[in-house]
Amino acid sequence: MLKVGILGAGRIAGVHAAAITAHSGSTLVAVSDFIPANAEKLAAQYGCEARTNDAILNDPTIDAVLIATSTDTHSGFIEAATAAGKAVFCEKPVDLSLARAQACQKLASASGRPVMIGFNRRFDPNFGALKAALDAGEIGKAELLSITSFDPTPPPVAYVKVSGGLFRDMMIHDFDMANFIMGTAPETINAVGTSIVDPDIGLAGDVDTAVVTMTYADGRIAVIKNSRRAAYGYDQRVELLGSKGMLQAQNVLENTVVKSTVDGVTGAKPTYFFLQRYTAAFTAEWAGFVAALANGTAMPVTLDDGVAALAMAGAATMSVKTGAPVRLDSI
Ligand SMILES: NC(=O)c1ccc[n+]([C@@H]2O[C@H](COP(=O)([O-])OP(=O)(O)OC[C@H]3O[C@@H](n4cnc5c(N)ncnc54)[C@H](O)[C@@H]3O)[C@@H](O)[C@H]2O)c1
Repeated sequence: MLKVGILGAGRIAGVHAAAITAHSGSTLVAVSDFIPANAEKLAAQYGCEARTNDAILNDPTIDAVLIATSTDTHSGFIEAATAAGKAVFCEKPVDLSLARAQACQKLASASGRPVMIGFNRRFDPNFGALKAALDAGEIGKAELLSITSFDPTPPPVAYVKVSGGLFRDMMIHDFDMANFIMGTAPETINAVGTSIVDPDIGLAGDVDTAVVTMTYADGRIAVIKNSRRAAYGYDQRVELLGSKGMLQAQNVLENTVVKSTVDGVTGAKPTYFFLQRYTAAFTAEWAGFVAALANGTAMPVTLDDGVAALAMAGAATMSVKTGAPVRLDSI
C-alpha cells in the first residue's frame, strides 16, 4: 500500500485526494497547507491528518508526496521531496522559470527518485484512443495537428498576475499534448496573442486569446488555439490529419440527447470545465503513477516532459513579444 502525503490543500488537491483514496493501492496519510484551515478542511473530508509541509516530508513512513501547491513552489518541493527519498507526483507546470525548472531537473535526476508531472490530459480516454490509433498506423504518417483548448470563462486578474501567463499556465497542457501525439518537440514556435476577452488581462501583461503554430524538423506542422472564454463551455478538441486519413477527438457533452424539431437540431453543451471534463483522466493519471511505482517502470509523464513543455511556453511568450518565430533550441 502506497502511503501518500499531499502538499497544498486547494482546488486541485481535492481532485487528487479523491483519486488517492479511491485507489486500492494507495492511502492518504496527511495533507499540509500554509493556510492551516485549508489542510484541516481537506483532512477532515478524507479522514487523514493535517500537518506541516516538513512533517510530511520528514515522515519516513510516507512513500510518495503529491505537490499541489502554487506553481512558484513546485521546484523547491520536488527537490526537497526527492532528497527525502520520496517518489513525487507534481502538478503542472514544473516552475514559472525555465532555468529554475532545469536546475530542479538536475537535482531530482541525481536523487534517482521517480518524478511524475501532472499532465492529466494524456490520460483522457478520447485523446488516448486518438494516440493509440495513430501509433497503430490507422491514418498513416501524422502531418498536421490542430488542438483547440478554450476555457468557459477567464480567471480573476489576481490569478492571471501570478499564473506565469497563458502559455505557462494554460497552453502548457496543449504543448504537452502536442509532444505526446507528435512524439517529439517542434523546432520552431510562432505565437500571436491578444487580450480581447478582458482588457485588464492585457493590462496585467498577459494575453487571453492566442494561436501558436509549430514546425517540426521533418516538415510536420501543429496549430494550438487557446481562449480564456467560450460562451458554450469548455472546448477541448484534437484533430490530426495523416497521410491516410484523419483522427478527431470531439468534445465530451453533458448528455447525448439530440433534439430535432421544426426549429432545427440541437444538442447539449460540452461538460462545464476541467473538473467535469477530465474526471476519468485524473483517476487514470493517479493509477498510472501507482502502477509505475509498483512495477518499477518509467513514469508515464516525466520531469523531462514537464521541462520540455515549459521551454515551449517560454518560446511562445518570447514570440508574442518579438513578433517573430522562435527556435526552441535558442532558449
Ligand atoms: N492539471 C490540471 O488540470 C490543473 C488544474 C488546476 C490547477 N493545477 C495546478 O495545480 C497547482 C495548484 O492550483 P490550484 O488551482 O489547486 O490552486 P489553489 O490556490 O486552489 O491551491 C493551492 C494551495 O496551495 C497552498 N500553498 C501555496 N503555497 C504553499 C506552500 N509553500 N506550502 C503549503 N501550501 C501552500 C495554498 O494555500 C492553497 O491552498 C497550480 O500549480 C496549478 O497550475 C493543475
